[in-house]
Order: sequence, then structure tokens, then C-alpha cells
Amino acid sequence: MQILEMVVNGAKRAMILEEGRVMLSDALRDGLGLTGTKVGCGAGQCGSCVVVMNGEAVTSCTTLASKAQGAEIVTIEGLARGGELHPIQEAFIEANAIQCGFCTPGLVMALYALFCKNPAPDDVILKKELNKHLCRCTGYEVIWDAAVLAREKMNGTRKACSE
Ligand code: FES
Ligand code: FES
Repeated sequence: MQILEMVVNGAKRAMILEEGRVMLSDALRDGLGLTGTKVGCGAGQCGSCVVVMNGEAVTSCTTLASKAQGAEIVTIEGLARGGELHPIQEAFIEANAIQCGFCTPGLVMALYALFCKNPAPDDVILKKELNKHLCRCTGYEVIWDAAVLAREKMNGTRKACSE
């Protein structure tokens, strides 16, 4: 047993980590109650569980929670500010790119990590990121539209990133 300490969405959090292979997705969902992070395949294939760890998009279902010791984590719960959605979240709504919403947090967090590093990625880079995600209901064209709209909303700046 160990104490896992992380900064999650800007706040210091600590939890008891039981023995065995506890994944970051379980630590966030079951340990901290942050159920916005979804677990689909549990095998690093669908992208639904993506969170940002130390500025990098990671599949939390394949990341051991112990690897997050001392890390800065951003989850979907950490994006809205003062009751305002993040521009990437707004873009998904405006583009009608959400149906069941299961894949959405992972897509939004992956785009957040990308835009924070590169606020104006070209289409090839943007598509490469989206290709890591599976969506079973909305369809990829509107997700593409949302990503392009999000890029426009970021307006080539990192101002919407909590760096
Ligand atoms: S649930 Fe983690 S990649 Fe599918
Ligand atoms: S909106 Fe349902 S899986 Fe993508």
C-alpha cells in the first residue's frame, strides 16, 4: 500500500493506492470520484480514457497510477472556468459532435494537450490525433468539424491552457 499524491485539476490530491496493478483511470474514477474520464476498451485502443499528465495526453487505462506520483493531471472536469466551458468543449457542442458522449472526454483532452503544445496544428497533425480515438455513434465527420472549430477558437494561442 502506498499514498499516491498528485495535483489534479490544480488541486493537491492524495489517496491510498492498494497493492497490485491500479491504473490511473481507476485512481481518478474510483479513488477521486472523477468519473468524467471514461473507460472503453481498457487496452489503450479507443482513446476514451485520455487525460493529460505533465502536459502529455496519456491513455489512463494503460498508465499505472503509481507512475502518476507527484504528477500534474488535467481531466475533463478541470477544463471549464468560472462556469464557462473550455473553447474545445464549446466546439464539440456547436459542431453537434456528441451523441452518447462516451468518447468525448478523451477527444477533448487529447485536443487540449495538442493545442497547449501547438495551438495551430495543420490538418495532418490534427487528423493524426483524432485517428487515435474510436467513436461508435456520432460519426467522424462532425468530430473533424469540431476539431477544426476548436482550432479556430484557440486562435493560434495557448490562452485557453492552464499552464
Ligand atoms: S479505455 Fe483507455 S484507450 Fe480505451
Ligand atoms: S459519441 Fe458515442 S461513442 Fe462517440
